[in-house]
Amino acid sequence: MSAFVVLGAQWGDEGKGKMTDYLAEKAEVIVRFQGGNNAGHTVEVEDKQYKLHLIPSGILYGNKLNVIGNGVVIDPKALFEEIDYLEGLGVKVTPENLIISDRAHIIMPYHKILDKLKEKSRGKNDIGTTGKGIGPAYTDKVERCGIRVCDLLHTEVFKEKLYENIKTKNDIIVKVYEEEALDFNSICDEYLIYAERIRPFVKDISVRVYDEIKSGKNILFEGAQGTLLDIDYGTYPYVTSSNTIAGGVPSGAGIGPSMIDKVVGIAKAYTTRVGKGPFPTELNDKIGEWIREKGHEYGVTTGRSRRCGWLDLVILKSSARISGLTSFVVTKIDTLAGLSKIKVCTGYKLGDKVIDYFPASLEDLAKCEPVYEEFDGWDESVGDARNYEELPENAKKYLKKIEDFTGVKVSIVSVGPRRDQTIVIEEIL
Ligand code: GDP
Ligand code: IMO
Ligand code: MG
Repeated sequence: MSAFVVLGAQWGDEGKGKMTDYLAEKAEVIVRFQGGNNAGHTVEVEDKQYKLHLIPSGILYGNKLNVIGNGVVIDPKALFEEIDYLEGLGVKVTPENLIISDRAHIIMPYHKILDKLKEKSRGKNDIGTTGKGIGPAYTDKVERCGIRVCDLLHTEVFKEKLYENIKTKNDIIVKVYEEEALDFNSICDEYLIYAERIRPFVKDISVRVYDEIKSGKNILFEGAQGTLLDIDYGTYPYVTSSNTIAGGVPSGAGIGPSMIDKVVGIAKAYTTRVGKGPFPTELNDKIGEWIREKGHEYGVTTGRSRRCGWLDLVILKSSARISGLTSFVVTKIDTLAGLSKIKVCTGYKLGDKVIDYFPASLEDLAKCEPVYEEFDGWDESVGDARNYEELPENAKKYLKKIEDFTGVKVSIVSVGPRRDQTIVIEEIL
């Protein structure tokens, strides 16, 4: 029995979907504990590609229990579109293989509208949100006016809460942003249809996950986003609105921290970021463009191009500390193949000091100059490797540097998007 977490160690899009799917083979239960459909997780099985946003990446197996935890914010429209999309690809989604927390908060139309209006009003200081209503939905949760899944299932409670919310949100939409007011009746009718469709999936997921752990099952907690998008430890305010770090698991899935055995950090062999915010090792040059094209670095959720840069070990070390990582999975080393020299950031020069942690203040961060170590590159043969011995020597040196710098072992290396393009150095389970 093991409960283990798979999370992003950078700014998201590290390959969590691929690795969750790969590791899910040995798990019976896969749990999403935070975020919403701002996430975009790609899984490739044989010649088929699947893009998941809200539903855990374990769904493709058919016989695993997938759980949407209380820490997730759920857009029911997006949920049912995703279920229909999966069913269109031959993937069954039923109350037997998907359960949804009764405590999860619902994303309402006004959250999506306010996300976009607020973003527009930020002008040049915009965050670059996905516009999915994530921030406003979490805001309502903390402000204690949110609508939960269990509220949606009680028609009178839902109507009352919706009425109050529409009243206050319309005030903001009309008076602050001078946009058109929302209509209570049409939203109410739309969501009451969702209520009936979601009802069979709804459970107290804390009870179920606890029972599964106690009965000796392997449970995989699938993170969305990444450490530097965490609301507390990310590059605030250029972050998402949830705890993406391992600390988000107990509160987002209703389990005790002592139940978690392992925390696996997924790290891309270089760094990418979508949206605004600081990025010390960003490459605004031909190499950055080359990495973007070779690695197909375009957002799964918004289609935006991802900013690309060198691997930043300061970020990985910070991630290892904050989430208590027990191992790394390094993805996309095949993308770097062909570069003669590859740089790795091993510290930030701040004044007359070199620091190896990520500063809180963006003003301090702006003054940080990355200190680089240069590595010799490797060739395309890396993509054909299926065990550690077959990896080019220079790629092995690169992986060793990650281990030495962070003090965390690299257990798996990914050399391509498909399940079989995976090298296990040490079994995680
Ligand atoms: P996630 O959000 O962390 O699940 O990652 P995304 O799916 O947004 O982005 C990762 C992309 O890289 C996807 O298109 C994956 O199919 C792809 N990918 C994952 N691992 C590898 C790898 O080792 N090599 C290559 N070339 N692509 C990979
Ligand atoms: P996965 O799970 C990369 C980024 C957005 C924006 C910021 C806030 O696929 O790794 P939000 O809509 O959450 O309020 O946007 O966070 N962001 C992601 N970047 N991968 C993601 O998810 C992301 N989810 C949100 O681009 O900068
Ligand atoms: Mg993604």
